[in-house]
Amino acid sequence: MSEISESDTQRLIDGARAAMDGSYSPYSRFAVGAALLADDGRIFTGANVENSSYGLTICAERVALVKAVTEGVRHFQGLALQTSSGRFVTPCGACRQVLAEFCADLLIWISTDEGVRKLSLRELLPLAFSPADLTQ
Ligand code: THU
Repeated sequence: MSEISESDTQRLIDGARAAMDGSYSPYSRFAVGAALLADDGRIFTGANVENSSYGLTICAERVALVKAVTEGVRHFQGLALQTSSGRFVTPCGACRQVLAEFCADLLIWISTDEGVRKLSLRELLPLAFSPADLTQ
């Protein structure tokens, strides 16, 4: 697992907080901001985008990821998350799987009112289904 510098960690945490402002969440009133650190040092951010057809909502993590992937960026080191609740909240199951497609070793920082907690995607999604499982 690669080391992420303190300054990159802070950039990520700040990015997730700022990204929360972009949330469109009139139904849940639960804003989420995510920031992804790519291997090349770039940071891609996202926020949750809800829909009146509730099931079409897109989570902040996947918004950040698809922005990066569609810019040609496929390798990531870290993710930071912040929600408007200020509580400890982890990525939903769908986001865990989608993130694991590109970086099974992702480190994750969750900002709460009590401070920042660090964990890993491997802890959140052990024994994940992966692209390697499709090899014949
Ligand atoms: N949400 C995220 O953005 N990321 C997650 O990992 C969990 C949930 C959003 C979706 C919805 O807009 C709101 O939080 C409440 O579920």
